[in-house]
Amino acid sequence: MKHVMISGCSRGLGKAMVQGFHRAGWTVSGFARSRNVIDELQSIGADRLEIHQVDVTEEKPVADFVEAAISRFGVPDLLINNAAMINANAPLWEISQNDFEQLMAVNLSGVHRMIRYVVPRMIEAGRGVIVNISSGWGRSTSPEVAPYCASKWAIEGLSSALAQELPHGLAVIALNPGIIDTAMLRSCFGGDASLYPDPADWAKIAVPFIAKFGATHNGKSLTVPSEMDR
Ligand SMILES: NC(=O)c1ccc[n+]([C@@H]2O[C@H](COP(=O)([O-])OP(=O)(O)OC[C@H]3O[C@@H](n4cnc5c(N)ncnc54)[C@H](OP(=O)(O)O)[C@@H]3O)[C@@H](O)[C@H]2O)c1
Repeated sequence: MKHVMISGCSRGLGKAMVQGFHRAGWTVSGFARSRNVIDELQSIGADRLEIHQVDVTEEKPVADFVEAAISRFGVPDLLINNAAMINANAPLWEISQNDFEQLMAVNLSGVHRMIRYVVPRMIEAGRGVIVNISSGWGRSTSPEVAPYCASKWAIEGLSSALAQELPHGLAVIALNPGIIDTAMLRSCFGGDASLYPDPADWAKIAVPFIAKFGATHNGKSLTVPSEMDR
């Protein structure tokens, strides 16, 4: 049975991927900071699902989570670095140093932290796919979301360089998920977010798309197809 590890799974795309991969027969481990949804998710299948309460910016809780998930389910076949935040819409010069650093701590250092704990185990196992969730704003820009854009352009660069370092058998992919109606989208798009698909519908396309990634996808920058592309 394949094991997928997903960061940031209490709502939005992370939660939809937990449910979608579980339904597809995968073993799933994941975490987020919110306790309430963790209990709800855990109830869908305790035998091959383990969700923890962890903040991706904290070193020891992340290390302990990875160790616990690997001892129970084995080295993940797939790591999805999904946890992220967006800044409140504002021009860059009005964003406080604290808010800027917090965003980078989650969106960039959080991804690095997961890679530091999981990739050595994948290298030992001789296999593994890392999906770093990027964004359209990792390949283009808009005003008022400069810190978020900077973090996702960094994800694209980090993934591309990591692809050149990984040994044969492993792969890293930067994945733009498309535009989906989540709490994050409502923060930057307001009411227009409702024009976009909900996470559960998105996951029906995204989960089988991601599940096919393998070593031959190393270094690719991909986008989840939308309903209209099918
Ligand atoms: N929605 C879109 O249209 C869209 C477009 C392009 C890219 N993306 C990317 O897709 C991914 C998911 O976004 P989303 O729209 O689903 O956002 P979301 O609804 O805001 O969900 C973000 C998830 O990340 C978790 N998270 C945030 N900070 C965390 C931390 N410090 N430690 C652990 N978990 C943390 C949140 O859980 P807690 O708050 O409970 O910790 C939540 O489960 C992100 O990487 C985002 O940048 C989304």
